[in-house]
Amino acid sequence: MRTPIVAANWKMHKTAGEAVGYFRRLLELVAPQPKVELVVFPPATLLSLAKKHLEGSPIGWGAQNAYPEPQGAFTGEVSVVQVADLGARYLICGHSERRHIFGEGDELIGRKVRAALDTGLVPILCVGELLEERQAGRAWEVVERQLSTALADVFLPSPERLVVAYEPVWAIGTGVPARPEDAQGMAARIRKWLEGRFGKPGRAIRIQYGGSVKPENAREFLGLPDIDGALVGGASLDPDKFWAIAQAALT
Ligand code: 13P
Repeated sequence: MRTPIVAANWKMHKTAGEAVGYFRRLLELVAPQPKVELVVFPPATLLSLAKKHLEGSPIGWGAQNAYPEPQGAFTGEVSVVQVADLGARYLICGHSERRHIFGEGDELIGRKVRAALDTGLVPILCVGELLEERQAGRAWEVVERQLSTALADVFLPSPERLVVAYEPVWAIGTGVPARPEDAQGMAARIRKWLEGRFGKPGRAIRIQYGGSVKPENAREFLGLPDIDGALVGGASLDPDKFWAIAQAALT
């Protein structure tokens, strides 16, 4: 049984005051024991506020990015240990904006996945193809390369310790989501690949869909057999919309 996981990736949004208002509203909305796992990913500057307001609640929090060394001379970076110290449970690794705006490659992303696991964090490994790669019929080839490089030397103690997010780059922030049948097709291939890589337990690794998910379309994705949740950007900035999306996982 894979518990759905619905996550809010705030990206580079919100001040401290706005974050507190968001946490208060979300806590009002969330049932004491929702059957869906909710996680918010604020910017690193707001992680301590997430800890202050969300600790002891059903809502978890994680970091959007971290450097894969525990400490050192890496000006401007925040380490996996530092985010874990603020109670982060999850770490997004290889988001398409890290790959395509900041030039992160599969090797570095793999180091982040391993560092997250070594630190006790659960990596959410993002994979997804560009529009031209899809149009050239290379979507699976790209996703498979991203999976196999990032997970090359990974020892996974149990399937709950990894989440994979399929986020086709052309669907992120565009208002144009993938077709549900394409998202399902890719998720099924990812699940088969995970089984090949990690054996039968690999089938229990949760797979999210991300890319223009909103309350109006969430049910189309969250009802698919191989999609176990959503990684939401724009629509997650409003706690009521985020909760509406999470509720779609329950029905
Ligand atoms: P949007 O929901 O804004 O398309 O962003 C998706 C995303 O990148 C989540 O990580």
